[in-house]
Formats: sequence, C-alpha cells, structure tokens
Amino acid sequence: MSLVSCDGLEVTFGHGRDTVRAVRGVSFDVARGESFGIVGESGSGKSTVLRAICGLAPISGGRVRIDGAPVDTPRSAEFYRNVQMVFQDPYASLHPRHTVDKVLSEPLAIHGFADVEDRIAQALNDVGLGTGFRFRFPHQLSGGQRQRVAIARALILEPSVLLLDEPTSALDASIQAEVLNLLDDLRARRGLTYLLVSHDLAVVAHMCERLIVMQHGLVVEELTRSALQHKAAQQDYTKDLLRASSGFQPPTPS
Ligand SMILES: Nc1ncnc2c1ncn2[C@@H]1O[C@H](COP(=O)(O)OP(=O)(O)OP(=O)(O)O)[C@@H](O)[C@H]1O
Ligand SMILES: [Mg+2]
Repeated sequence: MSLVSCDGLEVTFGHGRDTVRAVRGVSFDVARGESFGIVGESGSGKSTVLRAICGLAPISGGRVRIDGAPVDTPRSAEFYRNVQMVFQDPYASLHPRHTVDKVLSEPLAIHGFADVEDRIAQALNDVGLGTGFRFRFPHQLSGGQRQRVAIARALILEPSVLLLDEPTSALDASIQAEVLNLLDDLRARRGLTYLLVSHDLAVVAHMCERLIVMQHGLVVEELTRSALQHKAAQQDYTKDLLRASSGFQPPTPS
C-alpha cells in the first residue's frame, strides 16, 4: 500500500473573479521509503500540493491518504508526528528570537516527549551540527546551518514522511549539495519517505526515483529517474523543461 496518496486533489483559492484553481485534479502514489519529485514552472501548483497535504492549504476536492487513511481537517497531532514539512527559506521559517534549543524543544513539548535533552542532542548530531549550536539564534547561523536546524526540527518527532519544498534553492550551490547529501543520507538511514518539490531537474534526478511534472495545476507527465536521465520525456512540455534547464547535466545512469 502507498504511504502517501493524492487522488483527484483540488485546491481553489479565492472567490468569483478572483478564483485561482491552483491544483486541478492531481493524483499520485508514493510508496514507503520512496523519494518522489514534483517539478514544474513557477506558479504550477507544486508548493500548494505539499501545503494541501499537510493542512496549510484548503482541499476543495479529491482526497489525501496517509497509509491508506484519509486525513482529517484540521490535521491531528498524530498526523504531524508522522508527516513534517521543510520550507524553502530557512531565513523565514525560523523565528528570529528563538534559539535553536527553543525551536527543537517546542515540538517535543507539544507532543509530550520526556527525553528532551537526549532528543535535542541526537537531532543536532544527526544533521551534522552538534550540541555547540544549541543556544544560538538564527542570525548566528549561516543559511546552510539554518536549513540543517529546520531539518532537525522536522525530524525530531521521528516522522516517516518529509515534505520538502525547494529545501536548497535559497542556498549557495556548494552548500546546496551538502544539504542534499544530508537529506539523502537521512533517508537511507531512517527509511524516510520524501516528497520533494524543486524547479531544478538536476536536483530531482539526483534525489528522486520518480517524479511528476506539473503545469497550470495539472500533472502533465509522470516519469522515472531513468527516463529523466535518458531525456525520455513523452510530453512536449517536459521536453521544453528539460531543454530550458540550462546546464542540466543528467547524472550518468547507474
Ligand atoms: N494563499 C493563496 N491565495 C491565493 N492564491 C494562491 C495562494 N497560494 C498560492 N496561490 C496561487 O496558486 C498558484 C500555484 O502556486 P504555488 O505556490 O503552488 O506554485 P509553485 O509551483 O510552488 O511556484 P514556485 O515555483 O514559484 O514556488 C499560483 O497561481 C499562486 O498565485
Ligand atoms: Mg513553490
């Protein structure tokens, strides 16, 4: 059975003439342990799909299921133990006046965990920061370090699914690779399931086994990594996207 499934997902914002149909009948299934990519141009609805899954955007049609069970609105505490999101901008997603300690202890308090000290130390070590960073404020961290804190926050409740919305696009290229490798490593070690949004086909080719291509709120095409590596897209839109990603070097097929 798939761990995350969207079936005819619809998200509509606004009313009357201001209506935006951001997601128009999107369906896909992600197996446990899989890394699944969502690519497409700006405004195609990628972030909205992730936001709808985790309850940050209203679902106006279709269904989201986790492990076969339809999600509740609002999402339950249990849902957030199991599914966590990492946002694009680590500058905006961390409260400027909260220390790393506060950022990491908050979810533990909300979910009633007792072994706070151990979990914080473990989470900081897991993301390669170590406990020396525990009492720093966001302004005392680099962009890459902030995103590591955001990843630690997402992982501290030991979820099985991470929704990753352009997790490295705000970072320098060299730091981007470090954070992607960290995510790859964490997935392998913990058997995590990823839904990764990126406009960067190279990132998705590196990180994901399968992907969908979105345009105007619709799924244009579903591809495997190997099809992407061989540039074997069927749809003209995907072919254009492959051509348009200048400098896109598909990793050599393994
Ligand atoms: N809260 C909102 N209210 C109204 N419209 C919204 C809202 N959130 C998103 N939209 C609209 O929904 C559409 C899809 O937006 P979304 O953020 O999902 O795109 P995206 O594919 O993630 O783009 P990008 O690559 O630029 O991040 C856009 O037209 C956007 O303007
Ligand atoms: Mg987006």
